[in-house]
Amino acid sequence: MGYIWWNFVAILAMVLPVKSQLSVGFYSKSCPKVESIVRSTVESYFKADPTIAAGLLRLHFHDCFVQGCDGSVLIMDENAEINAGPNMGLRGFEVVDDAKAKLENLCPGVVSCADILALATRDAVYLSDGPSWSVPTGRRDGKVSISFEAEDLPSPFEPIDNHIQKFAEKGLDEEDLVTLVGAHTVGRTDCQLFSYRLQNFTSTGNPDPTISPSFLTELRTLCPLDGDPFRGVAMDKDSQLKFDNSFYKNLMNGNGVLESDQRLWSHPSTRDIVKRYGGNLRGLLGLRFSFEFKKAMVKLSSIGVKTGTQGEIRKVCYQFNK
Ligand SMILES: *[C@@H]1O[C@H](CO)[C@@H](O)[C@H](O)[C@H]1NC(C)=O
Repeated sequence: MGYIWWNFVAILAMVLPVKSQLSVGFYSKSCPKVESIVRSTVESYFKADPTIAAGLLRLHFHDCFVQGCDGSVLIMDENAEINAGPNMGLRGFEVVDDAKAKLENLCPGVVSCADILALATRDAVYLSDGPSWSVPTGRRDGKVSISFEAEDLPSPFEPIDNHIQKFAEKGLDEEDLVTLVGAHTVGRTDCQLFSYRLQNFTSTGNPDPTISPSFLTELRTLCPLDGDPFRGVAMDKDSQLKFDNSFYKNLMNGNGVLESDQRLWSHPSTRDIVKRYGGNLRGLLGLRFSFEFKKAMVKLSSIGVKTGTQGEIRKVCYQFNK
């Protein structure tokens, strides 16, 4: 069974159409050690702090949604994307900068920051017991990073219809949306981003009725009215550091933390997809989520990429070349 299934996966991978000018092994001649250097760099940060995986996933996603996956989010400047509201609390910059410094020593001016971030994200998922996949590379770094362009990133307070629309604008469908939100299986969020659900939700006098009673008690304990608004809370209450499908199971049981996550279970266009990933046959459905997640990540990390002679290869990831 397993053997046949994996063969099927391999054949499917061969017939999937090529969607961009990126290619797996783009640096195999120009900088053959790129993947092993990124991997070992991510490993060392991950050992010290496994929550860096969620940081890198979010960083890559926010990079790709604004100006395409071109490292625009990495620019440290007053007016750059990093200073937009939705980019508050972004993490993982030091991992990319560190890998970049090592690669500049080895093969100067060759590897883009955008590619380093895409590879590091893949490695972080794998280190969290998630799937691994081949990352097509060859992205170039962008020369534009403007704060206001990042203000429109999907927000946890928006209805699912908005999320569907924003993903569609990037060529991602409803299945990609639900699949990519699964990254929250290793994520954390702050009390301030969901505590409004815990009492007098939409001025009804009651909490959000879609939160399960036991989870409501748990969340109220973690985020009391006079508590720290910046306290971190796991978005997958069962296994914060493990990349698995229990996040979806939690949505099905009213144990979603962010409102927009929980709404994936009530919205008619996304409910069945959540069920497909989070239903009872744990092992098999976990496999299905892993398989779809790899595909969705390759799609995400190909959005609006710059290749060939577009953009540049930055010398350092936090500023444009002079
Ligand atoms: C809930 O909020 C509304 C609107 O702000 C307010 O009028 C009402 O008194 C609140 N109810 C409770 C139980 O706090």
